[in-house]
Amino acid sequence: MTNKTDPVPILVAVAWPYASGSRHLGHLAGAYLPADVFARFQRLAGNEVLMVSGSDVHGTPITVRADSEGTTPDEIVGRYHEEFLDNWKKLAISWDLYTSTGTENHAKVTHDVFTKLFEKGHIDRRSSEQFYDEDAGRFLPDRYIEGVCPHCEYSEARGDQCENCGRTLDPEELINPVSKISGSEPTLRETEHFYLRLSDFQEPLSEWLSGREGWRNHVLNFSKGWIEEGLHDRAITRDLDWGVEVPIDGIGEDKKIYVWFEAVIGYLSASKEWSKNNGSEDDWKKWWSNPDSRSVYFIGKDNVPFHTIIWPAMLMGYGDLNLPSNVPANQYVTFKGGKASASRGVGLTITESLEVFEADSLRYALAASFPEQSDTELTVEEICRRINEELVATWGNLVNRVLSMIYNSCDAEIPSPELRNSEDLALLSGIDQIVEEVAEDIDKSELRAALRKAMSGAAEVNVYLNSTEPWKLSKTDPERAATVLGTALSAIAGVRVCLAPYLPFSTESLNDVFGTVDSWQRKEPEYGKKIEKPKPLFKKVDINLLDLDD
Ligand code: MF3
Ligand code: ZN
Repeated sequence: MTNKTDPVPILVAVAWPYASGSRHLGHLAGAYLPADVFARFQRLAGNEVLMVSGSDVHGTPITVRADSEGTTPDEIVGRYHEEFLDNWKKLAISWDLYTSTGTENHAKVTHDVFTKLFEKGHIDRRSSEQFYDEDAGRFLPDRYIEGVCPHCEYSEARGDQCENCGRTLDPEELINPVSKISGSEPTLRETEHFYLRLSDFQEPLSEWLSGREGWRNHVLNFSKGWIEEGLHDRAITRDLDWGVEVPIDGIGEDKKIYVWFEAVIGYLSASKEWSKNNGSEDDWKKWWSNPDSRSVYFIGKDNVPFHTIIWPAMLMGYGDLNLPSNVPANQYVTFKGGKASASRGVGLTITESLEVFEADSLRYALAASFPEQSDTELTVEEICRRINEELVATWGNLVNRVLSMIYNSCDAEIPSPELRNSEDLALLSGIDQIVEEVAEDIDKSELRAALRKAMSGAAEVNVYLNSTEPWKLSKTDPERAATVLGTALSAIAGVRVCLAPYLPFSTESLNDVFGTVDSWQRKEPEYGKKIEKPKPLFKKVDINLLDLDD
């Protein structure tokens, strides 16, 4: 990792949150935070990162919410888009562009993809029977209808997807469907829609997926299973008045493009928008048409088939655009216990969490529990424990202790590395090894393991201090004490690099001592430099004082 190779363009593509309600810690731990850690690392490793996402402003999640509040989809979207922007700022999620699917650019790019797939024969027009609510006088797409899942018999499957088994559905597959609008049993009515001929891609997708290496097992198994069941053509328009217009005439004004068909196109449209904003219209091609680039999609597991099957099929059909290099989807964070869940029945929202936890502390606690391989249960108690017993006890106190000793017994001057002995050098080479290993883990999206390794670096420095005891040496052998403290500080500089992708705020707060972290390597602190009186990096949290229930 540290030997300089040519920078690789890496697209960090992050699931677009529906602007239909506040997002929860599960979403943060599932997609946005892992993406940010990965992107921050890749930039430090010298690669050319383009990290994009935006608010998903269409589809029935938005219109159902607007209906239930008696307001417009526009008002809902505006409200939550603003909230998300505020969340990202407070968490320092390092987007290159966070936009929305409501832009003219997005509609234009969607139209281009739709039209090209239509012209190439991958989209056709069919007449079918769709559920219709006689009382409400309207069709019932997606979330306007619920029923029993034909695959797993879950009783509250929605018209577009079963939350229980994760399979995508067409509304007419539901057993015992019920209208969410009137509660009545819907009737079937004939209507025309455009279909994506997914079955055309059965073979190429199957071949492509079987060649994927380094993908998470749960992602590959789920996707391969889906393909083995046989791919069905899917309707990609809906009887709705909210969404991206259909670019082909003659099907009627009252249809819009299905949200999932256009939202995934957001990765491409956002890349193009970023290019335009940054001066060079064609720059996006560096990430989309260049065979040496990588594209890594950070999503939750309910989004897997859209990213491993439908979006790749669309890209294959369109031609000359890169397929995903990896889709390190996370499983679910289930959130239990704590006052918050008792009163609300759901986990904390990102906004609520940021009212009670410091951003870095929250980032740490979530990253330590990223649900990379299996569903992971999280509680407020566990978040507090991670912060107090790990982040503060192992890392925050270490930094504070070493800086305080340098401040008090070395005249606040960073000690010289000149007299380091073999024990000192062994510590530093151990840390350098960790810096390398953390890089390898993060590059494979094993972010939880990487964080554990980074923290083991902090633990090694603590062990070194307990064996060298500089607080005693400062009375008996001040020269040796200074060397030990200088060595510990240098080791801390290495651990700080490893933690930089996870803890952007506290990393920056140490810039005065170490300078900015601008590459993936331990750098020797500047010896002779004066340091300020140190302040604690993080606050301890007391669960009894957290104001969670207002
Ligand atoms: N809005 C979807 C959700 O919250 C995710 C869309 S990801 C995209 O589940 F790729 F389609 F944009
Ligand atoms: Zn199901």
